[in-house]
Amino acid sequence: MILTPKAWIRERKNEYYYKKAKEENYRSRSTYKLIQANEKYGFIKLRDVVVDLGAAPGGWVQAARKMTGKYGFVLGVDLKPIEPFTQEYIRTIIADLTEPDIAEQILSFLPRRPDVVISDAAPNVTGVWEVDHECQIDLANKSMEIAKRLLKPGGNFFVKVFQGGQLDEFILNVKKNFDSVKIVKPPASRSKSSEEYLLALGLKGKTEN
Ligand SMILES: C[S@@+](CC[C@H](N)C(=O)[O-])C[C@H]1O[C@@H](n2cnc3c(N)ncnc32)[C@H](O)[C@@H]1O
Repeated sequence: MILTPKAWIRERKNEYYYKKAKEENYRSRSTYKLIQANEKYGFIKLRDVVVDLGAAPGGWVQAARKMTGKYGFVLGVDLKPIEPFTQEYIRTIIADLTEPDIAEQILSFLPRRPDVVISDAAPNVTGVWEVDHECQIDLANKSMEIAKRLLKPGGNFFVKVFQGGQLDEFILNVKKNFDSVKIVKPPASRSKSSEEYLLALGLKGKTEN
């Protein structure tokens, strides 16, 4: 197959992050999406408590653990088991983020309310664009509900979305709850994919409890 110049660059980029992840012992090429977004916007800091929704195989957990350091804590949540980590201050649980009592379940594993909730949760894609978009927005909405319930006041939220008809409504919804909201496309995210990330800073209107 002869690749167009654009497709050739895309293939090289994908291969680049795949190899880089192997070399740097990260569990996924997706790890670089979180690293790049945080380098630019600094929403995860040293000592933070972070909840990672849809965390398997654990690349974001590894990256978040480096960002939060030894006084922080990272909890990874996924339907699938996550191979254990050797470092301290990481915990993973098998759970479905769509379960009604999931926020309480998660809270019971945390040392305190989280500073940041991140979600790379994704459905099994069908290839039918509208269906995949709807499932992704549904997971993003569920993730936002968990973030609203758990985050400390002023906390941050970073979530995967797919472009499509329901994205604007989702953004409006998030804007009601956070001080600032922006759409982010890290360089490691495939340019041809409809994947983007929404970054919401500063959960508002909540009293600490
Ligand atoms: C793209 S992967 C996450 C990759 C991860 N950020 C990393 O760097 O290793 C998406 C994950 O979302 C999980 N997921 C999808 N629906 C879920 C749900 N309802 N509850 C929990 N996890 C879910 C999948 O099992 C899958 O492991």
